[in-house]
Amino acid sequence: MVSITEIENFWTRGDLHSRINQAMLDSGLNNKKLEIEDLFPIDQYHARGIGATKDLGKRMPITKNQKILDVGCGLGGPARYYAKEFKCHITGVDITPSFIEIGNNFNRLTSMSTMVDLYVGNGEKLEFEDEVFDGAYSQHVTMNISDRMKFFSEIYRVLKKGSFFAFTEHGLGPEGDPIFPLPWADNQEMSFLLPLENTNAILKEIGFINIKLIETGDKYIEGYEKLIQKQPKSEKPTLGIHVIGGSSMHERSINSMRSIKENRTLPFEIVCEK
Ligand SMILES: C[S@@+](CC[C@H](N)C(=O)[O-])C[C@H]1O[C@@H](n2cnc3c(N)ncnc32)[C@H](O)[C@@H]1O
Repeated sequence: MVSITEIENFWTRGDLHSRINQAMLDSGLNNKKLEIEDLFPIDQYHARGIGATKDLGKRMPITKNQKILDVGCGLGGPARYYAKEFKCHITGVDITPSFIEIGNNFNRLTSMSTMVDLYVGNGEKLEFEDEVFDGAYSQHVTMNISDRMKFFSEIYRVLKKGSFFAFTEHGLGPEGDPIFPLPWADNQEMSFLLPLENTNAILKEIGFINIKLIETGDKYIEGYEKLIQKQPKSEKPTLGIHVIGGSSMHERSINSMRSIKENRTLPFEIVCEK
């Protein structure tokens, strides 16, 4: 089993606070009031960045003042975007303490602290009462979840009846065996991919209904191609997900793109209801 320290080390790759401070300084964003858009290049910690967040947002029927849960919220980028877009309140939980610390600081810098709260927590054991949220989402997190039944059951438990759950993930493709290291795992020990039909069956067994599965492989290949072209050292933008993912992000992105192209992994958006 992977320890919390190993998880923190995997996601932060050394002194993440210093790398972010330096990148903010270099791009002229330090010590000033920011708009949430200023942080999009660095706070959407998944392939396809803000584009993927916007796409998932189109699938979520969020209305004003609703209470929405983000499981595996990372640095809170998607939470800030949805909170502003839908004028709702977002509670985010993430297992990596540094991400929560930096994310709450980003909330302050963008004046979003009253709309977004981020906490350290494990999606497999949520510390919330039953049926308190009007909706939940989870972007690119389930690949790290060994017990999907527990993870999805916890989300089901904290959702009100009639509310939605939306998530994106890389499922296991028909060819299997993804190429490591990947953006979410350096090796098999941290990666728990499931074929789409298994994920669908687990959601049904828990009680989720109206399950919609949308394949997004082509969009991800296109997104990775753009990211990889941008990444040679000389042309790297000051702010980008390489600041978070470190020097191996280039190789990990290439492996993720190849894994999709070779049908080893299959990216999906999944939306369902309680
Ligand atoms: C690829 S990042 C996505 C972050 C964020 N959802 C986003 O899209 O910007 C995956 C995140 O899942 C978090 N994570 C992994 N396992 C988790 C767990 N059991 N509970 C909560 N968060 C978890 C990691 O710490 C990391 O922040």
